[in-house]
Amino acid sequence: MKTPKRLQPLVDDGLIDEVLTQLMSGKEAQVFVVRCGDDVRCAKVFKEAKQRSFKQAVQYQEGRKERNSRRARAMSKKTRYGQKEQEQAWLTAEVDALYRLAAADVRVPKPYGFVDGVLLMEMITDAQGAVAPRLDDVTLTHEQALRYHDKVITDVVRMLCAGLIHGDLSEFNVLVDAEGPVIIDLPQAVDAAGNNSAAAMLERDVDNMRAYFGRYAPELLNTHYAKEMWALYEAGELHPDSKLTGHFTFSTHIANVDELMEVIDDAKEEEAERQARMRDDDDSDEIPQPY
Ligand SMILES: Nc1ncnc2c1ncn2[C@@H]1O[C@H](COP(=O)(O)OP(=O)(O)OP(=O)(O)O)[C@@H](O)[C@H]1O
Ligand SMILES: [Mg+2]
Repeated sequence: MKTPKRLQPLVDDGLIDEVLTQLMSGKEAQVFVVRCGDDVRCAKVFKEAKQRSFKQAVQYQEGRKERNSRRARAMSKKTRYGQKEQEQAWLTAEVDALYRLAAADVRVPKPYGFVDGVLLMEMITDAQGAVAPRLDDVTLTHEQALRYHDKVITDVVRMLCAGLIHGDLSEFNVLVDAEGPVIIDLPQAVDAAGNNSAAAMLERDVDNMRAYFGRYAPELLNTHYAKEMWALYEAGELHPDSKLTGHFTFSTHIANVDELMEVIDDAKEEEAERQARMRDDDDSDEIPQPY
């Protein structure tokens, strides 16, 4: 196809040899299939700031650390330069997240760099080599639903251990390759430790997955993976290979284990005394036998 204007600089620089097709355009970006030497890759072109919708909301950006201090200073000011830097930080969030997650062994498209507002990444394919479908496009068996859900939960745990929450996880942002689910679309990724909405975002992500896979495996509808993993995360006990159960005990207050043990011991003692009294009473009720 004719090279789109936004991809021309990458063609000129030799990063892209040919633009093959355009995939379905999302709300935030256009995704193209491109040839880079012998490889076929995806090029995600982000729309201009004013065309983008909810994902740039302040709620998502809270707690993000700006490593570049010059940029951090600029962003704190409301100048045009500051806004430009803010926009740049927003655009690099997805490529940063992809590198971080690939290193944390989360199944995401392998990133190949971010140039002129364009993210180059691995194209996810199905078993035949065609562009992979989204979860929303496929029909699953009961067994597949359980297996894929398990894989997504494992990846969400690894993401959380790497300090990130997807923030927009749904059946539209998970592709299915020959092996199983692949998480995509991360520009809004949320900082798990520094964002006040982190727990709520995690819960929404995980509950979306529960509702989707629950259509094929209704027993998943009774699980509480988000609450379980957040409790472990907050306690510093979540690890990339933590095995979760999906169960969570809801309580209205934090249990004080020592206090609870004392109460149990007291109850035991009381019961022992009661039993002893009953024995005594039984003994005294007995009609005295003449010698
Ligand atoms: N690495 C990839 N491999 C294959 N297909 C991809 C890849 N990345 C994106 N796509 C396709 O392009 C579509 C849009 O991508 P993505 O979800 O990242 O963009 P978006 O515009 O932010 O989407 P949204 O509409 O969810 O806001 C995806 O639904 C998917 O079908
Ligand atoms: Mg998307």
